[in-house]
Amino acid sequence: MEFEDVFKRERVTRKFTNRKVNEKLIADIIKKAQQSPSLLNSQPWRAYVSVGESLEKLKKASKANIDAGVKPHEDFASMLSLNWDTFPSQNMATMGASQTYFFRNKLDLFTKSNDAMFNAQSVVFLTIPRESPAWSVFDLGIFAQSIMLIAIDNGLSIMPAHSMVSYPDLVRKYVHIPDNQLVGMAIALGYKDKSSEVNDPKYFPERVPFEKIFKLTK
Ligand SMILES: Cc1cc2nc3c(=O)[nH]c(=O)nc-3n(C[C@H](O)[C@H](O)[C@H](O)COP(=O)(O)O)c2cc1C
Repeated sequence: MEFEDVFKRERVTRKFTNRKVNEKLIADIIKKAQQSPSLLNSQPWRAYVSVGESLEKLKKASKANIDAGVKPHEDFASMLSLNWDTFPSQNMATMGASQTYFFRNKLDLFTKSNDAMFNAQSVVFLTIPRESPAWSVFDLGIFAQSIMLIAIDNGLSIMPAHSMVSYPDLVRKYVHIPDNQLVGMAIALGYKDKSSEVNDPKYFPERVPFEKIFKLTK
């Protein structure tokens, strides 16, 4: 696929079909993503892939937690604090919340898809060591983006979601991740359910005007 097309297709998918993704393809994607740059080539990332029984057990246990009202406690929780600067806060309010289904009586659609882990048939959990500088979070983001673009180039759809790492204790248990790793993010890879309303392109959020984020100084 042309790079521009890959990049244009990078929109999230909130409901996948039941079709499984070839496990070798997933491994190949992650192997290619290892080419990503990182601070001093530190490559702090690890990728733990969950499919089949492991993923079904995790989904079930996570849903039980949600139903029981267990508060999410992401490993990156301290960074997910509400102390956002006004610029991203405003973007979330105007580009995210008010524009799409969040505010058209469709919050339920969004919540349900998250709670069901998007019916994903394969999820890549991305970790960095517990003892990590902020640079490693940055590196993990680059690695994640590589995985997503390579996956799209291979005909897959993607869903990066912190909601899938809301309960890192469960992720560690069912995906066999050691305690010394922070469960940073999760990316579901699969085939888009085109008939699902939650995937309707009319809900694609827009981006802030370019002039707001770009400044050239000579
Ligand atoms: C770090 C990160 C965490 C995200 N977490 C969630 C999530 O928990 N649930 C969800 O539905 N979408 C999540 N998303 C998807 C974003 O909401 C989405 O990328 C954004 O609204 C822009 O939409 P688009 O990618 O389709 O253009 C996440 C994206 C990123 C990069």
